Amino acid sequence: MAVTAPKHFLQFRDFSCDEFEHLFERTRWIKDRFKRYEIYQPLRDRTLAMVFEKASTRTRVSFEAGMNQLGGIAINLTRGDTQLARGEPIEDVARVVSRMVDVVMIRTFGQSLIERFAEHSRVPVINGLTNEYHPCQILADIYTWIEHRGSIRGRTVAWIGDANNVCYTWLQAAQIFGFHVSVSTPPGYAMDPAIAGAPGAAHYSCHDDPRAACRGADLVTTDVWTSMGYEAENDARLRAFERWQVDSAMMREAAPDALFMHCLPAHRGEEVAAEVIDGPQSVVWDEAENRLHAQKALLEYLVCGRVDG
Ligand code: CP
Ligand code: NVA
Repeated sequence: MAVTAPKHFLQFRDFSCDEFEHLFERTRWIKDRFKRYEIYQPLRDRTLAMVFEKASTRTRVSFEAGMNQLGGIAINLTRGDTQLARGEPIEDVARVVSRMVDVVMIRTFGQSLIERFAEHSRVPVINGLTNEYHPCQILADIYTWIEHRGSIRGRTVAWIGDANNVCYTWLQAAQIFGFHVSVSTPPGYAMDPAIAGAPGAAHYSCHDDPRAACRGADLVTTDVWTSMGYEAENDARLRAFERWQVDSAMMREAAPDALFMHCLPAHRGEEVAAEVIDGPQSVVWDEAENRLHAQKALLEYLVCGRVDG
């Protein structure tokens, strides 16, 4: 029997602006119902397999809780629990797991691993973070922006610090939604626009001075200086990134009503000062909570297709 190719969410640009608008509408609807303690279970009898090759708090809890709240179940697999650890090819794991479950979420190292899995999967595959991208995070971040400020079109986001998976996903989102990312990274840690899919000049600019990147920004955001998988570089990074801490002085360069976001976990005193992440412009707790609601909309869309509430 021929099996039609499933829709995957492996990087942000896998979805169109129209699909994201649908997901944001569904996120709002699902979140409202959840806040009213109303049961909504379109995924009864459905199963999510989660594969974690790196640590997680938010991604693990939001996907597992979300799947349960939608009426389904989630199976958590870490590399050591599976035959992957004993050399089973990822293509074979994809063929087998995707005959048993309805959707798969993977957190792993290189993007090529998740792409190989998806190529051999009969069911949708979601990127729960790779070295290159973190699309579920930016889905929640843009939803959080919309909740607080409305459309992000034409706005400026300042990215301060490491050119990592979260940064590259912001750059992909800028192309889809029509906003600008002002990036500032230390010498030797420049971002590679090719990873983001070579965004047009209107969608990003690079700044040596982090304060210049923040100037007039509507949103200031950052992330850890050392991402998972790069721990051996930690000491060198601590030295190189010292001037790239988002503090009150940097926030003062941004628009007076600028928001601050961080995907978390955060290191106060490194990439962000406590006064900023715990201050009035920070929306990090809404941002973290919205992982749950936005991913429930994503699961609904990938498993059930477009649902209008
Ligand atoms: N932001 C994020 O993905 O957090 P976890 O690593 O805790 O999942
Ligand atoms: N850039 C970080 C994000 C963690 C959620 C990492 O990859 O470790």
